[in-house]
Amino acid sequence: MCGIVGYIGNKKASPILINGLLKLEYRGYDSAGISTIEKTGLSTMKDKGRVKNLYNLPEIDNLEGTIGIAHTRWATHGKPSMENAHPHMDNSKTFSVVHNGIIENFNELRKLLSDSGYTFYSQTDTEIIPNLIDYYYKKENNNDLKFLRAVKNACNSLKGSFALEIICKDYPDNMIVVRKDSPLVIGKGNGENYISSDIPAMLSYTKDFYLLNDLEYVVLSRDNAKFYNNDLKTIEKETKSIDWDANSSEKGDFEDYMLKEIYEQPKAIRETIGSRINKNSKCEFEELNFTKEYLQGLNKIYFVACGTAMHVGLAGKDMIEKLCKIPTEVDIASEFRYRDPLIDNKTLCIFISQSGETADTLAALKLSKQCGAKTLAITNVIGSSITREADYSIYTHAGPEIAVASTKAYTSQVVLVAMLTIYFAETLELSTQKIATLKEEILLLPKKIEKALKTSSEIKTFAKRIYQEKDIFFLGRGIDETVAKEASLKLKEISYIHSDSYPAGELKHGPIALIENDVTVISIMTDPKLVKKTISNIQEVISRGAKTLIITNQDVDTDMFDMVICIPETSTFISPILSIIPLQLLAYFTSKEKGLDVDKPRNLAKSVTVE
Ligand code: AGP
Repeated sequence: MCGIVGYIGNKKASPILINGLLKLEYRGYDSAGISTIEKTGLSTMKDKGRVKNLYNLPEIDNLEGTIGIAHTRWATHGKPSMENAHPHMDNSKTFSVVHNGIIENFNELRKLLSDSGYTFYSQTDTEIIPNLIDYYYKKENNNDLKFLRAVKNACNSLKGSFALEIICKDYPDNMIVVRKDSPLVIGKGNGENYISSDIPAMLSYTKDFYLLNDLEYVVLSRDNAKFYNNDLKTIEKETKSIDWDANSSEKGDFEDYMLKEIYEQPKAIRETIGSRINKNSKCEFEELNFTKEYLQGLNKIYFVACGTAMHVGLAGKDMIEKLCKIPTEVDIASEFRYRDPLIDNKTLCIFISQSGETADTLAALKLSKQCGAKTLAITNVIGSSITREADYSIYTHAGPEIAVASTKAYTSQVVLVAMLTIYFAETLELSTQKIATLKEEILLLPKKIEKALKTSSEIKTFAKRIYQEKDIFFLGRGIDETVAKEASLKLKEISYIHSDSYPAGELKHGPIALIENDVTVISIMTDPKLVKKTISNIQEVISRGAKTLIITNQDVDTDMFDMVICIPETSTFISPILSIIPLQLLAYFTSKEKGLDVDKPRNLAKSVTVE
């Protein structure tokens, strides 16, 4: 999940590259480095730690080159260190390479190259790439495509995933980029080209992007981009204009991206709803063309995703089974792809991914297509890899989500799944009062989220009580249990407090053994049919000394609990969008109390583009 940037134009490359790395640091921050082509040849500087360590290097200001590549690392092979930092050069310092991905056959290639006289100085898989290019380069006779042919032959020897930027001291006016199963986009400027792992890093320079498919090679010059397929035949490509504004990926007045994105949720939901919901007309998806017969013929719908996105699938299962009566399963992508799932042409597989680049989710999608299933992608990033694999794609319009902990993407995905469910039900001609109520409640969400955000100060107080805890438990029943899972993930990933979520009814089957005096138990209660049951579970933990926080839209005896946070009522199908708000804030304030980096939690990256 590293971040890579490149620049070729008429300005000094180093400040542009450093600025790009700072915007991509959420993709990894173990080390950072930069290579430029100087009058004296290739220059490479790198250091362990954050990007700021790189731009604090005294000699960085001496870089005059107008073509360069740069990298911020999330360590996979080899610990975070200067030697393992990218960019990596070949022994003769002819090539410099930055790489996002994992080379699965690097050991055998390293042996082949060692036997051919190459020496290695790092523990990374990446270091074999510049040397492999050099190995093929030396075999090429002199021809216009010598650099490109060497890169292509090297890439065809690689197994695994890679997004590469390559510069060569013999070609000071060119950069070659190529990707396979890792993200890479090219921003087209005026007499310059920008390359990046994803779009936000380049938004301040351009809105016009070339989107690359796997094993398409691009030879970039200052005012041109030549595209080649894997047979090195030229191909034509159009740019795609992306309507995100540059400020949308800045922090503005907020201390952290996560807080900004929590407070952006009313807007994100409003934008995602767009014009799809009108009381007096059907919910429209121009991207979809499912018929009543197709939907009636389905034996199953699968939601497949990772992390927070999988929790959205759990809410989707509840909606589709209750409103459309179609059997629906939810699976974690990394499990789905290896369990020989029972899918065929009567299965609709829905893949949810904010980034659209999660390796396991992409692999699960490809497997589903091989098994004959129709595939539908739900993502927040236009042109992301998942949209180029899936049969259909529909989008949240949450704007760039920079913080590693997903907030506005989660709530936007839930509302998009709710609208998709309405679309299915109306296509099946199952339109009922429940659907009409759901439509009305969807339109009221932005205002109700604003209300839920007003619980911030009470939540901040509770965070001060729990930030030193070692274990915290989240409980819920039905749809509230899916929120318990999401809230637990939010808390653990940014506060590093161990937390677990359980169906409240499961407590007596083992977990209650963990409850002792002053343990924190947090419960979500929004389903009127289940509140009394959950309250009796909470009374069991209170009698064992637990302190309790309740998130609810029902009338409860507030004296029974340590804190009760009241949120607006809504349809149970979309109640996760409101009940998660105070729990996102709880995770945020708890992490802040501990003085942690909320946006870039340790060991994590925003998009898991390796398996
Ligand atoms: C959520 O807060 C986490 N950052 C993580 O679980 C994330 O949801 C997961 O990696 C899936 O990412 P995606 O939606 O980009 O595929």
